[in-house]
Amino acid sequence: MSRKRVAVLISGRGSNMAALIEAARAADYPAEIVLVISNIPGAGGLATAEANGIAAVTVDQKPFGRDREAFERAVQAHLVEHRIDIVCLAGFMRILTPWLVGQWEWRMINIHPSLLPAYKGLDTHARAIADGVTKHGATVHFVTAELDAGDVILQGEVDVVPGDTPETLAARVLKVEHEIYPQALRMIATEYKLI
Ligand code: GAR
Repeated sequence: MSRKRVAVLISGRGSNMAALIEAARAADYPAEIVLVISNIPGAGGLATAEANGIAAVTVDQKPFGRDREAFERAVQAHLVEHRIDIVCLAGFMRILTPWLVGQWEWRMINIHPSLLPAYKGLDTHARAIADGVTKHGATVHFVTAELDAGDVILQGEVDVVPGDTPETLAARVLKVEHEIYPQALRMIATEYKLI
């Protein structure tokens, strides 16, 4: 079995990244995490990646200012250098241009903290509570040029309970995220044939 080479893009603590690294330890897991890229210097997940012997790179977004494609070309250079097959966005808090998305069609996936198509964008937990919904959760989906709109791969559901705050709900959803992201990557890495 040739394992797919995966890059994880992060902006923060990287707990989903850590869940992917952990899952990929299994001998039968069809992917290996070989590269972590952060757009934010000092993001917590970088240290976790390094502690696991994974190449951890910062592509600081600041010097690129508003030139989003120039930033993405710098990211893409690392992805190419590391011969990446699949890109996982895990708390990567940037909207991507159609150019980068186009480089990774069907090979870039994202985890989003809601049951898409509900609650695209930010502050998903607070919005779910404000609306009084009883079910919330997380979605792994393919990335397309439209924000949080690509085909769904897997979803995980949690109940919203009386007294929930955005923080308590986020913590419950995060547990589900850590289960479904490794499962979704397993599915994609198994199905996806190198072309
Ligand atoms: C996760 O809850 C993820 O779903 C969310 O950011 C958090 C990152 O946590 N992503 C988004 O909101 C993307 N729009 P992590 O760094 O611990 O994985």
